[in-house]
Amino acid sequence: MSTVVIVGSQWGDEGKGKVIDYLSKEADVVVRGQGGNNAGHTVVVGEQKYALHLIPSGVLYEDTINVIGNGVVIDLESLLQEIDGIKARGVSVDGIKISNRAHLVMPYHKMIDRLSELARGNEKIGTTQKGIGPCYMDKVERSGLRVCDLFESDFSDRLRRQIRRKNDIITKLYDEKPLDEDKIVADMSKYAERIKPFVVDTIPLVHDALQQNKKILLEGAQGSLLDIDYGTYPFVTSSHPISGGFAIGSGIYPHAISEVVGITKAYTTRVGSGPFVTELNDEIGEMIREKGHEFGTTTGRARRCGWLDMVVVNYAAKINGMTGIALMLLDVLTGFKEVKICTAYKYVDDEGEHVITDYPASLNVLQKCEPIYETIKGWDEDISECKTYEELPENCKKYISRVEELSSVKVKIVSVGAKRSQTIIRESIYK
Ligand code: GDP
Ligand code: IMO
Ligand code: MG
Repeated sequence: MSTVVIVGSQWGDEGKGKVIDYLSKEADVVVRGQGGNNAGHTVVVGEQKYALHLIPSGVLYEDTINVIGNGVVIDLESLLQEIDGIKARGVSVDGIKISNRAHLVMPYHKMIDRLSELARGNEKIGTTQKGIGPCYMDKVERSGLRVCDLFESDFSDRLRRQIRRKNDIITKLYDEKPLDEDKIVADMSKYAERIKPFVVDTIPLVHDALQQNKKILLEGAQGSLLDIDYGTYPFVTSSHPISGGFAIGSGIYPHAISEVVGITKAYTTRVGSGPFVTELNDEIGEMIREKGHEFGTTTGRARRCGWLDMVVVNYAAKINGMTGIALMLLDVLTGFKEVKICTAYKYVDDEGEHVITDYPASLNVLQKCEPIYETIKGWDEDISECKTYEELPENCKKYISRVEELSSVKVKIVSVGAKRSQTIIRESIYK
């Protein structure tokens, strides 16, 4: 059985899209289990670049089934645009299957996301404003609308009731103009017709694949530190981007999972607000941003950059049960005289100085934590054409070894560029 989970071990944008695409060559089924079009997964094939948001990153291989699972929240307008966009580029969309249990992101969710962020002022989360939080709120409140509802005779009535409830909030709480009820209902009916051929019950689909011993790739979105329970709450997303999230969001039971690969940037980035102990607000941070083109795939925002934080990665390794690491964007660190790895935090309070290695829950503690660094000599050699681990410069290998020693997890994949060919596989991911 080969059911492989791919998760982000930091704050997202670690390069999950690249690895999913790479591993999709051999996969039968790729499944997204949570999140929505807040995700932006970049896949580079030759000179072509694809930015995928809701469509799983296995889509570029024609024979792969690409499932949008029950735990995903779907903005139909955005999904249809994405489908049209990749179809126009000659990519087959026939293998896309959408769960009838997935919840729908509605225009009022996006509006409320934007308005609640504005209302938070300086304390804003820095969401993608795609309506993700408000949609999950409705799901948990048990007032959400799901894909299967689109095809029921009472759908318009239910939708109208929701729009009126939300318009109450929009007008009374936020003093904004109400949304146009008739337009939303008409749009949804158009989208429902178009999406219908893709909609299935994905539970039997994934279970048949399991039973037939097919290779299944579970595509994580976001990152472990954005998890609603384990992340830097409240500066998190509203779902579970960790390996356990797949048992909920895809219908694949926990013991079916054979491998969990933590996609780990060789440094750290974060978009949006919230604590970030190794953040560099200096010319080194700026150099990383420039060299790594660290600007968001979804919102275009500049990503905050800093050195690799192993307190974060080790925490992610624990909560995900990581069996391997894919160390990404290592080429970006080429040319630095020295590179740093944070191995612990220093925290001082009334009781004295503490050395912390378990990721703290309290934001107040995190805000006062200072990184304790280990410094490794850098390398100047261009590594972007290296095809094997042995070809990498000695100092680069030392860096990889330190990541392994500090995390007790093997670095099974090393990525030295955005292209498929710039991938070093040290150990096969499929068993
Ligand atoms: P995801 O959200 O985890 O899929 O990551 P994003 O696609 O948002 O961001 C990762 C960025 O790094 C994308 O622009 C990728 O094309 C790029 N990328 C991935 N791996 C590498 C690598 O090893 N080196 C370089 N230079 N870029 C990479
Ligand atoms: P991928 O899959 C990076 C961040 C947002 C914000 C917080 C909450 O490309 O790695 P939300 O819109 O989800 O309510 O925003 O989560 N965020 C991401 N950051 N990569 C992502 O996805 C993200 N998805 C959400 O920036 O800080
Ligand atoms: Mg991304």
